[in-house]
Amino acid sequence: RSKMQARHERTLAMVKPDAYKHLGKIINGIQRSGFMINNLRVCKLSKAEAQAFYEVHRGKPFYDTLTDFMSSGRICAMELTGPNAIDSWRQLLGPTDSDVARQQAPNSIRASFGTNKTYNACHGSDAPDTAAQELAFFFGRPGSAAVGKCDLGGRG
Ligand code: TYD
Repeated sequence: RSKMQARHERTLAMVKPDAYKHLGKIINGIQRSGFMINNLRVCKLSKAEAQAFYEVHRGKPFYDTLTDFMSSGRICAMELTGPNAIDSWRQLLGPTDSDVARQQAPNSIRASFGTNKTYNACHGSDAPDTAAQELAFFFGRPGSAAVGKCDLGGRG
């Protein structure tokens, strides 16, 4: 494979609670940008599920605020596939902090729909191994039909 050839990848895209009201516009942008939506799930994370998803940040000063926010309303998890999907989706997201995004990437999703460095509209996996792990969190292991995590069940 030459260096110039795009790698076919899968990534987890998540619309966070603050941007759920913009879900249609975000999906429109995803499709216009050439991604394939290979799987999709709307659910509401419990606090424990949000903590598990962001386990890597446990102990950081923003962990509690972040996991409160992430368990505060509906989210939409999507498996996106396409050439360089991981970096392409993060490019579309823009910088982590929506205030920075408005300066540096004014047309990005975080500039358009986020507020600050916590309430920043959407998530994207940062590497193939974390993408596989995060996709398994929402959609189960490849070949399994596992569901049951983060259903709306009564909390919707
Ligand atoms: P991080 O992995 O650094 O950013 P990204 O989502 O762009 O990969 O952080 C994960 C999430 O943690 C981020 O989307 C929002 C939250 N967060 C804060 O709330 N405060 C912070 O200071 C940082 C760095 C992140």
